[in-house]
Amino acid sequence: MSIENAKGMLIKATKGKYAIGAFNITDITQMEGVVEAAVNKKAPLIIQTSVEPSKFLGRKVMVAVYRAIAESAPIPICLHLDHCTDVAYCKQCADVGYTNIMIDASKLPFEENVRMVKEVTDHCHTVGDISVEAELGTVSGVEDQIKVVEDEAQLANPEQSVEFIERTGIDLFAPAIGTAHGVYKTKDPKVDFERLGKIAQLVNGQGVRIPLVVHGGTGLPPHTVAKLIEVGGAKFNVSTELKRTLIDAKFNYISEHRDEYNPGKVDKVVKAAITQAVEQWIDVLGSAGKA
Ligand code: 13P
Repeated sequence: MSIENAKGMLIKATKGKYAIGAFNITDITQMEGVVEAAVNKKAPLIIQTSVEPSKFLGRKVMVAVYRAIAESAPIPICLHLDHCTDVAYCKQCADVGYTNIMIDASKLPFEENVRMVKEVTDHCHTVGDISVEAELGTVSGVEDQIKVVEDEAQLANPEQSVEFIERTGIDLFAPAIGTAHGVYKTKDPKVDFERLGKIAQLVNGQGVRIPLVVHGGTGLPPHTVAKLIEVGGAKFNVSTELKRTLIDAKFNYISEHRDEYNPGKVDKVVKAAITQAVEQWIDVLGSAGKA
């Protein structure tokens, strides 16, 4: 049985100084491509869906496909709802079988963020073995329905992070440390390693309790990823790269085979491209062979 929540696999990763890829998918072909990569590499896996694709396919369909694929895969796989701002939808996804939920109230004042996150955490811990992720500070860029301009982005305060974790009861913590959703404007984006290290020390210094999440994986150079893992990052979210991989693979294949009209062939090309991209990420994260 390889249906898992995110917490256990990420605690192991934090202790082992490697990280697990959390890959956003928008359709079933992408989901299959991501799983194939993780199976090939024997790596634990987190599949993520933003709210929009979850609603488009339907949360029950998403979970049914996840379970069908994951149950016969020889690796642990989690299904995560990403950046959901709506408490009710978080609960609905938990109820139908998502195994990790991210409630994102990071744009709201601290007390309101705590209140909403606690409500979702209490629900998830009551209905099943579902872990919960939440964010403090704001990650710039665009992710699904959430838009934050760079100037507004605020980094997570380490002491306040501890208070946030204790008051909400969350399982995974995503502090804003300067990474951004979308494509970075520079090849070597500025990331606040020290801040992540300080939070890791405060939260996990006496034994790993709450794995730390790095958002904005697309475009982070491997040396930055390695340093983030070294200071305590355990879950790396990758979305934009896979969206681009899907669109580019489809576009290029159709452009070159304009008279073919064979959707199965297009899907195969997309799946192979996604698998290749995810295998590269798994190598950078060091999670190959850890399943
Ligand atoms: P990117 O789109 O920059 O890869 O960020 C993904 C992410 O953090 C999703 O939560």
